[in-house]
Amino acid sequence: MCGIVGYVGYRKILSVLMDGLKRLEYRGYDSAGVTWPEHGSLVRVRTRGKLSRLEEALEEHRGTDSTAGLGHTRWATHGEPTQQNAHPHSDCTGELVVVHNGIIENYYSLREQLTAEGHKFKSETDTEVLAHLIEKYLQDDIEAAVRKALADASGAYAIGVLWARRPDVLVAARKHSPLVLGISEGEAFMASDVPALLPYTRDVIFLDDGEMAILSGSGINIRSVTTGDDIEKTVQQISWDASMAEKAGYKHFMLKEIYEQPDAILNTFRGRVVPGTGEIRLPEIGIGREVISRLKRIVFLACGTSWHAGLVGKYWIEKWAKIPVEVDLASEFRYRDLLIDQDVLTIPISQSGETADTLAGLRIAKERGSSIVSICNVLGSTITRESDGTVYTHAGPEIGVASTKAFTSQLTALFILALFLAKERNAMTDEDASEKIGTLISLPGIIEKHLPEWHNQCRDLADEFYTKSDFLYLGRHLQFPIALEGALKLKEISYIHAEGYAAGEMKHGPIALIDRNMPVVAIVPGDHVYEKMISNVEEVKSRRGIVITLGREGDEELKRISNAMIACPDAEAEINPFIYTVPLQLMAYEIALARGCDVDQPRNLAKSVTVE
Ligand code: G6P
Repeated sequence: MCGIVGYVGYRKILSVLMDGLKRLEYRGYDSAGVTWPEHGSLVRVRTRGKLSRLEEALEEHRGTDSTAGLGHTRWATHGEPTQQNAHPHSDCTGELVVVHNGIIENYYSLREQLTAEGHKFKSETDTEVLAHLIEKYLQDDIEAAVRKALADASGAYAIGVLWARRPDVLVAARKHSPLVLGISEGEAFMASDVPALLPYTRDVIFLDDGEMAILSGSGINIRSVTTGDDIEKTVQQISWDASMAEKAGYKHFMLKEIYEQPDAILNTFRGRVVPGTGEIRLPEIGIGREVISRLKRIVFLACGTSWHAGLVGKYWIEKWAKIPVEVDLASEFRYRDLLIDQDVLTIPISQSGETADTLAGLRIAKERGSSIVSICNVLGSTITRESDGTVYTHAGPEIGVASTKAFTSQLTALFILALFLAKERNAMTDEDASEKIGTLISLPGIIEKHLPEWHNQCRDLADEFYTKSDFLYLGRHLQFPIALEGALKLKEISYIHAEGYAAGEMKHGPIALIDRNMPVVAIVPGDHVYEKMISNVEEVKSRRGIVITLGREGDEELKRISNAMIACPDAEAEINPFIYTVPLQLMAYEIALARGCDVDQPRNLAKSVTVE
C-alpha cells in the first residue's frame, strides 16, 4: 500500500519527509518520490526501488532550506513500478503535484476526456488524472479546485496536493484510504499512518471519508469535500510506541491483516462489479471472448493457502460458468503427464507472484499452448509478467507469513472471475449475476460487524484449548477447503498438529483418532449439506470427542451438541467460505498467542518460496 508523508512548518523538509517515509516502509513499496517548493517552482525527485536510491538521488539537494513538501512510497496498482509512474505526479505545467494512495476507478474515462481537452499524460497511473483534473479547475483557489476535481473522481483516495504558487499550504483529502494529520506549534503534518508522525507530535486528527484538510504553519482547517463547510474535529493523543504504531496498534501484523479483510475484499471488487446491472468488468483478463467460448477446461495452479482458494473457486466456476475445473498443487502438476492444450485455460494463483513451483507450472502450461490468466497480489511480479492477463487482488502488502487477507482477496477475485466467465459464456443471466454481485457487496459489512465478537469468542476458546496437541477440521462442499485452510493456519503459527478433512471422509480414517482429548472443529452453515454435517458432529460426540462448531446464529440444535460454538451470520451459501474463514484465522491466532509463538514469523516458514 502506498505511503504518504506531507509537512509544512519550520523544519528542513528533506529530513522530515525521508524520516517519515522510512517509518512507512513496512507498508511495502516499489518506488518513491518527494517534492518541495524552491524559488517559485517545485522540485520533484523520484526513483524506482528502495529509499536508499531516493536518498542518493537527493544528495545534490541536501542544501535546500525549504520547509514544506510531500513524499510518497508507491505500491503499484496501475502501471509498472517505474520512475515515470512513481509519485508525486504533476499537471501539464509542473506547478501542481499530487501524491495518492488508493484507486481512482473512473480514471480511464477521465484520462480520455482530459486528453481530448489537451492535457498531456506522462505516466500510466490512475493518480495522474487527479493532477490534471485539479489543473483544469484551478484559477487562484487551490482548495476549490481540489474540491471540484474530487467531485468528478470515483473510487478510493487519500491525497496530498502542493501548488507552487501557494508553497506554504498543503491540501489533503480522504475517501476510503487512511490519512492522519499531526499538529504542533507552528507546523502541520499528514501521513498514511501514525508512525511517520511520532518523532514530532502525538497530537493527531484522523481524517474521515469525505473530509479535506488545509495545512499550514498556522494550523489545520478541516472542511467537507462536497460542501466546503468547516468541520470540527477532536485532536487525539497517541500513546502507542513506534512498533505498535506500525501495526496500527495491533499486537501483530497478522492480527492487523485479519482486521483489514473487509477493506481488502472491497478493494478487490471495487470498480469491477456494477451493482444492479450484473455487469462485470475485467479488461485486464488478457484473453478474448473467442478463447473463453472454446474453453474445455480450467486448471488452477497454486501452493499453500492459494491452493485452498483455488479449491473454492472450482465450485463457483463449475456451478456458474459450467466449465470443468481441476485444482492442482503446482509442485505436483509440473511432474505429471499433462493433458493441456489451447482449449485449456491455466490460472496460477499466487499472493507473491514469485513462488517457484507455480511459476514452473505456468511455463509448462504455456509451452503446451494454454492461455494463462493469473490471480496475484503483487503488480509486476514474475508470474504476472509471464501471464496473458492478471486479475489482481488489491489486498495491499501482506507481512504476516501466514496468509489471511490475501486469501479472502483471492476468493473475491475468483468469485468475480467465475461470474465473468459465466456471463461471457452466456451461462448466467444479468439478473442472476446482479444478485450475486449484491451478495458480494454485502460481505465487507458483514465481516466488519462480526470481527470483534468472533475475536472475543476465539480468545475464550484459546484459553480452553491451547494445550491440546492435535486438532481435526471438518467441512463439506464449499467449506471443505475452508477446513483445510483453518487447519493450515493453526499448524503454521501454533505448531499444533492439525488436519483438515472432507467431513464425509472422516469415517475412512480420522475417526480412529477421536477421543476425549481431540478437538474437532466442524464448519456447519445452514446449507444443503447441513444434515450431513450434523451427523458427522454426532459421530464425533458419540466417541467423546470435543466438538467446536462454527454455525448459524440461532442454530440451537447445533449449539446443543457442541462443546463450544462460534455463531456466524446466516448468509447466502456462496459467500460462506469468506465468512467462516475469518473466525478460524482468529482462533489460530489466539491459540498461537496463548502458546507464546512468534505469530508473524513462524519457525521454518517463508513468506515467498522462490526455491523448489
Ligand atoms: C508460502 C507462504 C504461504 C503461501 C504459499 C504460496 O508457503 O507461507 O502463506 O500460501 O507460500 O505463496 P503464493 O505467494 O504463491 O501465494
